[in-house]
Amino acid sequence: MNIYSDDEWLLWIDSLSEKDYVVIDRFLPNDLYGLVQHFFEEKLSHDDFKKSGIGSVYNNQIIESIRGDFTFWIDKKRDVEIHQFFELIEESKDKLNRYCYLSLSGYEFHLAHYPKGSFYKRHLDQFNNRSNRMITMIVYLNENWKKEDGGELKIYKNDTEILIEPLANRCILFKSALLEHEVLPTNIGRNSLTGWFLYQPSSVGYILGNN
Ligand code: OGA
Ligand code: NI
Repeated sequence: MNIYSDDEWLLWIDSLSEKDYVVIDRFLPNDLYGLVQHFFEEKLSHDDFKKSGIGSVYNNQIIESIRGDFTFWIDKKRDVEIHQFFELIEESKDKLNRYCYLSLSGYEFHLAHYPKGSFYKRHLDQFNNRSNRMITMIVYLNENWKKEDGGELKIYKNDTEILIEPLANRCILFKSALLEHEVLPTNIGRNSLTGWFLYQPSSVGYILGNN
């Protein structure tokens, strides 16, 4: 059962094709948003998150100066509490394939927590050793976010910079290989569910706990 109609998907995907990104507010149905929020809090409180990496050639100090987030890779088979979210990922993948003429065959998603004071410097979501990330999807989980909380996503597009506020239940989709972006320093613990639709399935990040 799909959550959104083809008309809704067409509108979003038109914008993604034209501008290379699209912002969708109130993306998850309320009950699903609640489940995801609860799942996130539980994993965070059990200390299940790991320091994220940027590839094996860098040492920890260098990584720290580039990105400060902690991540927890989610797994469809294991994380049955949020099975509805995986269904929405699959719905998204199917519609992107149909209306964006992509050949996406897999995906990888993680929870991401940026502690107060952390950031992620300007980058592309593709790495030299892996270039199969096609579309980035982020759903923010920051209740009552305010301007002074910071941690906006800054997208660099041609000569312009676009600031996206990480508002609760706001989703952004963008073309992973095209748009450089950064996470500005956050003044609060900043939470999101972040993932990538892949040209070919890859379990590298998942196994190594990288990226
Ligand atoms: C990333 C990333 C942006 C955000 O995880 O690669 O750029 O707004 N995240 O969390
Ligand atoms: Ni990124």
